[in-house]
Amino acid sequence: MKKVITYGTYDLFHYGHQRLLERAKALGDYLIVGVTTDNFDLERGKMSTCNNVMERIEAVKATGLADQIIIEEYKGQKIDDIQKYGVDIFAIGSDWEGYFDYLKEYCEVVYLPRTQGISSTQLREERPMVRIGVIGTGSIASRFVPESKFVNSNAIVSAYNPNKEECEDYCKQYELKPSGSETDLYEQCDAVYIASPHYTHYDYVKNALNAGKHVLCETPFVFGKAQAEELYNLAEEKRKVLMVALKTAYCPAFGHLVSLLKSGAIGDIVEVNASVTTLTDESSEKLNKDYWGGSMNENACFPLLPIFKLLGTGYENINFYSKMKNEVDMFTKAVFRFPSAVASFQVGLGVKTEGNLVVAGTKGYAYVPAPWWKTDYFELRYEDPNQNKKFFHTFAGDGLRYEIKDFVTAILSNEYFYSKVSKKENIKMAEVQEQYLKGVNLYKL
Ligand code: CTP
Repeated sequence: MKKVITYGTYDLFHYGHQRLLERAKALGDYLIVGVTTDNFDLERGKMSTCNNVMERIEAVKATGLADQIIIEEYKGQKIDDIQKYGVDIFAIGSDWEGYFDYLKEYCEVVYLPRTQGISSTQLREERPMVRIGVIGTGSIASRFVPESKFVNSNAIVSAYNPNKEECEDYCKQYELKPSGSETDLYEQCDAVYIASPHYTHYDYVKNALNAGKHVLCETPFVFGKAQAEELYNLAEEKRKVLMVALKTAYCPAFGHLVSLLKSGAIGDIVEVNASVTTLTDESSEKLNKDYWGGSMNENACFPLLPIFKLLGTGYENINFYSKMKNEVDMFTKAVFRFPSAVASFQVGLGVKTEGNLVVAGTKGYAYVPAPWWKTDYFELRYEDPNQNKKFFHTFAGDGLRYEIKDFVTAILSNEYFYSKVSKKENIKMAEVQEQYLKGVNLYKL
């Protein structure tokens, strides 16, 4: 029996894929089709697939041409598969001509002429576009436009900032049309990315939802529980996506870490500790009381993410210890009591500490080195060091592309209520911020 193997992403399955599979099948008696996993695609920098791996496998299956479908998960797997399945012929489209010649050592390599005039890329480009407007044009907004280019089906169309000069500079840099007013911006877009100062978020989110726009709002979302609830209720009523741009939540390594730990990889979780500190100029708005500055307001949402993801949102109490200067916290340590676990975090704008994340369990612990909020690597460590495991993932670019992809996908698939940081988690984050601002269990140093 002659075995043939071929690989592909098979996104938005099309006639070119069908013809390739037919011809590959005709080369032998048994066809194995390798479909890339979503993670492998992400690692190869492919942010743009529209169908997930299950949908892509189903599409290949529906052709009835594959005798076996396997998943391609890692670079170098082709050699392993060819040996494992006793493959005689490796077939691939001619767009890869020469690229897979190294496989000739293991089997025959055949390049089949590519079908002209069709590709997944072209089909993706023909899909509807989400037109995004940017509100606030500071440093994070400057990273947003380049990152959005890695994600398909979106276009940044315009920006708004009440400071006209800053708005024009930003628009010039990214070749956008400046909007003269908020209303002007809403008229041109389907969705907004709110990257204005945090104390303006509530008003902008509310206005944008009322104007019927989907919203991706930078962190921290808002500083009060009632405000957060009101905005989520409004989004539900308007059937619009409301997502918070807490980038760590969307990056592949962090997702993997959470799933592993929730599946018991280190036993029961007993403690979570995370730090985020960034030494900041004292004259910065970030340390100015009049601009809602301070370490808690600026950074608390980051360490709250692993705490809530791993221990849930049902904490019983929190104590805050803050080192104050000029009426703002230069540094805050927060300690949480959960029913059967404890958590703590350190945030600082005027104090520096190691920015790592450590999760302690009854069978071992997880260690994520600084800067853990841009996770690309973590370790699970045990009493017996032979059991230790290291995990590597890609954290591409500035990491915003992951949240942009989720945002655009949620809009295009009408998944209004889906978000990697849930409504419940975001409301609890706002509640923690509110308790701090009200001075509940706050000890000033
Ligand atoms: N293929 C083909 N003819 C086309 C498109 C794809 O023969 N018009 C072949 C590719 O050469 C490959 C297989 O189909 O052997 C799977 O290709 P894949 O990369 O999944 O599809 P593309 O349409 O090329 O996707 P993209 O535009 O994302 O590169």
